[in-house]
Amino acid sequence: MSLIPVLNGFSEKNHTWCAEEVPLDQIAKQFGTPTYVYSKKALSDAFNAYEAACKKPNGEHRARVHYAMKANSNLAILNLFARLGAGFDIVSAGELARVLAAGGSANQVVFSGVGKSKQEMIAALKAGVKCFNLESIPELTRLNEVASELGVVAPISLRVNPDVDPKTHPYISTGLKGNKFGIAYDDVLKTYQEAAKMSSCKIVGIDCHIGSQITEISPYLDALDRVLDLIKALDSAGIKIHHLDIGGGLGISYTDETPPAITDFANTLLNHIEQKGYGHLEVLFEPGRSLVGNAGLLLTSIEYLKPGETKNFCIVDAAMNDLMRPAMYEAYHAIVPVKTNTNTETLTYDIVGPICESGDWLGRDRALAVKPGDQLAILSAGAYGFTMSSNYNTRGRAAEVMVDGSQVHLIRERETIESLFANERLLP
Ligand code: LLP
Repeated sequence: MSLIPVLNGFSEKNHTWCAEEVPLDQIAKQFGTPTYVYSKKALSDAFNAYEAACKKPNGEHRARVHYAMKANSNLAILNLFARLGAGFDIVSAGELARVLAAGGSANQVVFSGVGKSKQEMIAALKAGVKCFNLESIPELTRLNEVASELGVVAPISLRVNPDVDPKTHPYISTGLKGNKFGIAYDDVLKTYQEAAKMSSCKIVGIDCHIGSQITEISPYLDALDRVLDLIKALDSAGIKIHHLDIGGGLGISYTDETPPAITDFANTLLNHIEQKGYGHLEVLFEPGRSLVGNAGLLLTSIEYLKPGETKNFCIVDAAMNDLMRPAMYEAYHAIVPVKTNTNTETLTYDIVGPICESGDWLGRDRALAVKPGDQLAILSAGAYGFTMSSNYNTRGRAAEVMVDGSQVHLIRERETIESLFANERLLP
């Protein structure tokens, strides 16, 4: 089985990997490395794959996509999705500010997260977000107070913890009893009843999100059935729900995983909701990874090849600060040489960065025919790549470019070293 996922927007042409029509070595030459490279076509196609299921033949929406921007919050990407008609799922006031700066509308924003601060609630209420997804009674109480002080009514939805196993990495599964997320299933009805008494909150929806990188549909159907049962119970208690937010979490292939295709996934869930008699509800999806993950890669250059006693190391100029996923989750990213070398010996390498930690690796035991100065493409890095990057070891964060056909647009400049300590002060 191939260890390279099937990609849209990136391909090998004449022994050179290209982003759409642009050879990656050309991008490395022009913008330096490490650089994140995104394909506009891959981003747009992924969004349109959701839209194909969300739009009825008459053009009306039976569901809406609220892009979970934590996956990749570059303004150019947000702007692209906003232009295609996306709403957004945010988790901070910072993300709200980005949506507005990118031309998104606050009334298409849902505000998720377990720990919203008072300042964040004020910012979101003033901007006029579509809905707050709340996760506890203390959070509900705080929002009610803040909204009342501002003289406004907060639209709310409660995040249900449906207690289903999404069968994914424990760090990214969120819908199990032991997770910090959501309101325990058995407490949901009484929490809604509390919410109904709060004069500055208006119940508009119900929400759940069971985890990330989910490659099977059955956990979603289980969670959905549990949430639909709740909607029925709420209805009997006189509490009307207008929208059902299914969360995000659809997986992508990093190697040989076979998650459902986006349109099939969305259609299956929407048809299930209709068959159960809830077709009148507005449905929201909150995808992150499935929109951007395979639409981006991290381009890096080889500094040194270092033979070791038990392993060979391929030391590159990208590191765990640029792409945290391998160090944090032991995540697998396929890694390919940008240009195929014919006269170079194939050896097995660990691909590592320059950071002073043994955890600073990007790929392990990879067979590569490479030499110093060559470039590598670390694939499937569009989601949770740049957004989780840091300045560890006082390394400026990578540049980001978006390729559109034969054009390359710089969408974030490489950070300069001076900018990294510009906000620091010496003692008097
Ligand atoms: N909605 C909520 C409430 C979420 O917490 C998340 C992701 C999403 C939607 C989007 O999930 P997605 O469609 O991207 O799976 N850093 C990890 C992933 C963390 C996901 C956090 N929540 C990684 O690199 O795999």
